[in-house]
Amino acid sequence: MKLDLRYSTLKEKDFDSKEFDKKIKEIHDKLHSEDTSAGTTWANWPETYDKKEFNKILKLAKEIEKNADALLVIGIGGSYLGAKAGMDMLAPKKQKVEIIFAGTNFDYNDLDAKLEYLKNKDVYVNVVSKSGTTVEILSTLNIVERFLKNKYKGDYKSRLIFTTDKEKGYLRERANLEGIETLSVPDNMGGRFSVLSAVGLLPFAAAGINVKKIMEGALSAYNDLLTSQIELNPAYKYAIYRYLINKKLGKKIELFASFASNLTSFGAWLVQLFNESEGKDGKGLFVSSLAYSTDLHSVGQFIQQGTPMIAETFIDVKTPLKDNTLTNIPLSSPIKFLDGKTMNEVNRAGFEGTVKAHTEANVPIAILEVDSICEETYGYMVYFFELACGTSGYLLGVNPFNQPGVEQYKAHMKQLLKSN
Ligand code: PA5
Repeated sequence: MKLDLRYSTLKEKDFDSKEFDKKIKEIHDKLHSEDTSAGTTWANWPETYDKKEFNKILKLAKEIEKNADALLVIGIGGSYLGAKAGMDMLAPKKQKVEIIFAGTNFDYNDLDAKLEYLKNKDVYVNVVSKSGTTVEILSTLNIVERFLKNKYKGDYKSRLIFTTDKEKGYLRERANLEGIETLSVPDNMGGRFSVLSAVGLLPFAAAGINVKKIMEGALSAYNDLLTSQIELNPAYKYAIYRYLINKKLGKKIELFASFASNLTSFGAWLVQLFNESEGKDGKGLFVSSLAYSTDLHSVGQFIQQGTPMIAETFIDVKTPLKDNTLTNIPLSSPIKFLDGKTMNEVNRAGFEGTVKAHTEANVPIAILEVDSICEETYGYMVYFFELACGTSGYLLGVNPFNQPGVEQYKAHMKQLLKSN
């Protein structure tokens, strides 16, 4: 991934400080330390990941492929968004097994529609919850288990796979007692940093996505970014950029945007990764994600002329998978000037035109370039942003690996339900 800061409104010398050099070296050592108790297992994961568990994932994916048309994945937050992002970027046209996500809300209409769709299909259910206590997940499971029992009678538990903590929690205890198949969420790896574990890899493998290539992509990011020298490490440089737009330029919001529509769910994963990691102690940039050019027609006006609190980060995919040429446009058409141009050329002009317009409006812009979307790029991008996010959180002086605010809402909700 290449980081282009030409339009950042910052100067090279802003990055040039002994203080940053020292801080980044400290953060680098902390993230890559063998002691992962701070929540940093993900940082060396592309090299250290559990190969035995990886083979189990491949085996289970084969079993699902043999016995099912669909895999219903029940998860939320970090146990959902990364997998959804990968599916939307990489899913083959003719998927071996269809992946359907549930448990992402409390809306029964949504779940009912999914179960109705699955009524005449063979199904496996993968429940993904590190804690094993999340209400969305357990309430969805309750209804889905009834659905499975109806369908497969006494044998229904052979259709369940729990991805959860290695040792503790309700799901782990149930699996041990009832002989339900399990995969593990690694120790010291929070949900939003877990997609390269069984959390994402089982749905990917079941769908026929090459998970070996995903891990190879993550490993090449790990190797490329294994230096504490800021100039050689675009993830660290990008983290400093985020710090500077907040502290030096006073920006409050970072908008991720892309002209590649299959990155929309990846944007949602980024929104969680950064907001949940950094938004604490009254600090952090609020992160949102937009799909261009669609959203230029809704929020483009604000970015251009509204309260000047926004910075934009573009993910620029250089080579799209497909393209088509516009031909035979009538003379009278307002788009006659596009005759002979490809859709990708038009999209690129849209991107460049947007960068120009927003630069004229003094919006700081960072561009992260990727060549194309494939399994390796996905693995690379996931690791790049995890590293940038962990670093950025530590630069801000917050703990990037907890989420006390989210825990609070869960506690209040449980209390309300218990007392009514
Ligand atoms: O990133 C996180 O830690 C959270 O978003 C969790 O993934 C989310 O709250 C779901 O938790 P769990 O996997 O324990 O059900």
